[in-house]
Amino acid sequence: MGAPEIRRVGVVGLGAMGAGIAQLAVEAGYETVGREVSDELGGKAYDRIAHFLQRKVDKGQMAAGERESALALLATTTDVSDLARCDLVIEAIVEDLDAKLELFRELESIVRPDAILATNTSALSVTEIAAAVSTPERVVGMHFFNPAPLMPLVEIVRAERSSDDAVEAAFEVGSRMGKKPIRCHDTPGFVVNRVLIPLLNDCLRVLDEARVTPEDLDTAMTAGAGWPMGPCTLVDLVGIDVHVHASEALYEKLREPRMAPPPRIVAMKNAGLLGRKSGRGFYTYE
Ligand code: 3HC
Repeated sequence: MGAPEIRRVGVVGLGAMGAGIAQLAVEAGYETVGREVSDELGGKAYDRIAHFLQRKVDKGQMAAGERESALALLATTTDVSDLARCDLVIEAIVEDLDAKLELFRELESIVRPDAILATNTSALSVTEIAAAVSTPERVVGMHFFNPAPLMPLVEIVRAERSSDDAVEAAFEVGSRMGKKPIRCHDTPGFVVNRVLIPLLNDCLRVLDEARVTPEDLDTAMTAGAGWPMGPCTLVDLVGIDVHVHASEALYEKLREPRMAPPPRIVAMKNAGLLGRKSGRGFYTYE
């Protein structure tokens, strides 16, 4: 399969990650269609992107005309069939394997046979997602980091049957988005989460072991280990539910005790304390 030239990008799921990816796509000059389940959520994502682009204009990082041009490239829809003309579709929906399998099957029936299908999954297997479609060679992982517009890395994940063309096309898109792409194989957690998830879980266990407050733990890791933000702030940013899910998925595959989510954050997730997005996690947000 020869990979197509990428001109139109689809993003499915416009939560914090999907909206960030759509922002990167329009900033890179791609015509972009973002799909959400309701007009309200699509509108929210559009407003979020418009807001962050305005902040760039305010800070002299972007000209007002460039913002207008970028926003003119962005359309939102609730209809997956509006992605039919996309050369690359990046999935950023809920971390649920069945939901992703169903979406990939639907996408395969809609897009051209040579269009590339990418998943932004944090901890699920790209190979398992690719197995949902009859053309798994066009499926790759494009794993962005939160907040996607600010974090330079994107992991380009080769699944068992990904073609070289699909991997290289995704790598090119990552580069054009201004990211630092790396190539890796489809192993649990890929590169960063394989290291970061158990490390964050260790940090959260230290909360109880050393009886420190979240504030002091964050100070310890920023002031003593040079982290840009402390572990409690970071888990609140990523989302307690997302972190618990990624931990469970890695624990299921690797059976390393450090991968398992500490009971404290499982309880937070069950109580609806999901971090920034819910207004409360380790900290309280406006
Ligand atoms: N989307 C778009 N733009 C954003 C944004 C977002 N979510 N958040 C902030 N911005 C923009 C804002 O306009 C902001 O400027 P403003 O406040 O003046 O409006 C601008 O970016 C700069 O923001 P900050 O001043 O907050 O930037 P900092 O210099 O403080 O850096 C940071 C922020 C890059 C997030 C830094 O703190 C950092 O590197 N933190 C670590 C984050 C990290 O480790 N992420 C990885 C998480 S793991 C993951 O994602 C994997 C997944 O699978 C779970």
